[in-house]
Formats: sequence, C-alpha cells, structure tokens
Amino acid sequence: MRSFSHMSRRDALKSGALAAAGMALAPLVPGTTLARLASAARPRLELITKPIPSTGERIPVIGLGTNQYSVETAEEMAELQAVLEAMADLGGSVVDTARVYGRAEVVIGELLERMGNRDDFFIATKTPIRGELQDPDVEIQTSFDQLGVDTLDLMLIHNMHGLDELMPAFIRWKDEGRIRYIGMSTSTDSQYAAQMEAMRRFPLDFIQVDYSIANRNAADEILPLAGELGIAVLVNVPFGGRGDGAASTFGRVADHELPGWAAEIDAESWAQVFLKYVVSHPAVTAAIPGTTQVRHLVDNQGAGRGRLPDPALRAEIERFWDELG
Ligand SMILES: NC(=O)c1ccc[n+]([C@@H]2O[C@H](COP(=O)([O-])OP(=O)(O)OC[C@H]3O[C@@H](n4cnc5c(N)ncnc54)[C@H](OP(=O)(O)O)[C@@H]3O)[C@@H](O)[C@H]2O)c1
Repeated sequence: MRSFSHMSRRDALKSGALAAAGMALAPLVPGTTLARLASAARPRLELITKPIPSTGERIPVIGLGTNQYSVETAEEMAELQAVLEAMADLGGSVVDTARVYGRAEVVIGELLERMGNRDDFFIATKTPIRGELQDPDVEIQTSFDQLGVDTLDLMLIHNMHGLDELMPAFIRWKDEGRIRYIGMSTSTDSQYAAQMEAMRRFPLDFIQVDYSIANRNAADEILPLAGELGIAVLVNVPFGGRGDGAASTFGRVADHELPGWAAEIDAESWAQVFLKYVVSHPAVTAAIPGTTQVRHLVDNQGAGRGRLPDPALRAEIERFWDELG
C-alpha cells in the first residue's frame, strides 16, 4: 500500500497543485533531489497520456526500459530504486523488462516490494528470447515469480520466439484475468513481416517495435497496421539503442543548439525532442527509453508533458535531422 506522503506528493505533482502553490516541493522531501526533479519536469505542463485501443485505459506516453537492470549490489539497487521512485513521483508508470535482461525482473520485483507502490506502475515483461522453451505455463509463471506479482499488466512474446506455442497460453491467462494485456515485441526490421502476419492472426492488445528519428522504418508499414487494427504500440530503442545507437543519435546533434521550434513543443533537450517526435506518431501509444540514471529519467519524463509536434512540425524535425546527416 502506498504511504500517504507518497500519494500526496505524486498526486500533487500530477495535478500541478504544487506548481500553483509556488513549487513548494522541497519541504515535502528531504534533500535536493526531488526539488531538482520537479523543476526539471515542469509539473505545470500537463501529463500526456494516450489510450490503449483495446480498452481505452490511458497510460503516460513516456515509460522506462530496463535492459541494464541486471544488478547485484545494494548500492546498484539503491541507484535503480531512486530512478523508479523519481519516475513514480513524476507521474510515469510504464516499465518494460524481459526474462533475457539477466536479473532485471528480480530486481524490479524487489524494488517494487521495497517501495510499496506496485500499483503506481504498469509492468510489461517478455518470455524468453531464445533457447528451448519449457511448458508455456511454466515460462509465464517464472516471470510472475521473479517479479513477485499475481497479475501482470502486459506480457509480450520476445522477438517472435515460440510464438505459436506461447500465444494460446497468453490468451488463456488473459481470459483468466491474470494477464491484463498480451502482445509481441521486436526491434529488427527483418522480423516486421512475421510480426505483421501475427498481428493479423492473434488478438493482440500491444506490439513493441523500434522507432526513432534515426530509424523511421517502422512508420512505413507496421505502425500504420497497428493503427488500423487498433493495437497499442510501445516503442523500444527510441534513441537508437544503448551503446553505439544512442551515442550516434545524440552525437549527431552534439554541436547543435535546440532550434527555435523546440520551444513550441515544450522541449528543453535533444532527448525530449527525440521522444516527443516518437510519441507524436498517431499509432504510437508510449515509448520506453532505457536509463539507469535519475538525471536522464527526469529529462525523459519531461518529454511526457506539454505539447507534442503536429504533422507539419514532425516533417520539419525529420528535415532538420536528415540535413544533419
Ligand atoms: N526486441 C525488444 O523487445 C527490445 C529490444 C531492445 C530494447 N528493448 C526495450 O527498449 C528499451 C529501450 O532500449 P535501449 O535502452 O536499448 O535504448 P534507448 O532507449 O534507445 O537508449 C538508451 C541509451 O540512451 C541513454 N539515455 C537515456 N536517456 C538519456 C538522456 N535523456 N540523455 C542522454 N542519454 C540518455 C542511456 O544511458 P543511461 O543509462 O546512462 O541513461 C542508454 O545508453 C530497453 O531498455 C528495453 O526495455 C526491447
């Protein structure tokens, strides 16, 4: 159960009440971290949410990816707990993980238990990405056990692995009310055709797919198909992927000031421009940028507030990006 102080702080942030009261956040929280978070995320700006087409439930457009959450030490756990706490405080909720991310499911399960605010989060995970599969019920139950949950918000089949064996069990667990939403995930163009075929064949609530200013291939067919079929879309690798992908995306703009149009969409950093571009695609429901750092979490959550680019500005952002190349 959530503590009163947590609820009041979060609800106040969401409603903008603290902003209206002159940003009197510091007295609520010891230390300087939250005050910095609050000003960075500018709670005066409205939280942007989008509906999951199959139910109409709205989720915040900026979530969190956790493929770097396989940690062990108490110090590392504390750092990641700070990231999750900041996320909840700023109104974010969608956390994406997977069995293949080492200890990530266990880490997230432990941190949610410790924080006591499981209900603030929308948790997505994925079945194994490779190797021989056990009985589908065992595969699903393993994630439940690692995350320490009785019900799960979203379960995805990872990179098509075991699609036909796993999907009947996904549907059954959903019918039994233990999984709220089902779907599948890829981050590779070479799997788009197979994923689109499965989108037509199975009653999916969600897909996950890669899409960024630097790689817009998903916009050709798979995003329009998701829109047509009423399937929610979580965007993975919105900066191009950890390591070289994100380094190259941020590197391309490293010597450039934000153009004047950034202010028109309430973007104060390149990360916010990139994320606002991604989530303004009409078929995209939310993006899950990966981070292990509070300062990046705050930056990214800031993209989930205020205005998004309209089609004309989306085209301008694309032109700007392409001319840098
Ligand atoms: N097939 C699949 O289903 C699939 C495949 C890949 C990924 N995913 C999911 O998608 C999530 C996102 O992908 P990703 O994490 O690989 O790539 P990403 O979100 O495109 O980029 C993450 C990288 O960007 C850095 N970063 C984050 N926020 C930043 C900011 N505001 N300013 C500057 N740098 C920033 C991160 O470093 P710091 O940690 O230092 O912040 C990290 O190196 C994953 O975590 C995972 O949950 C799914």
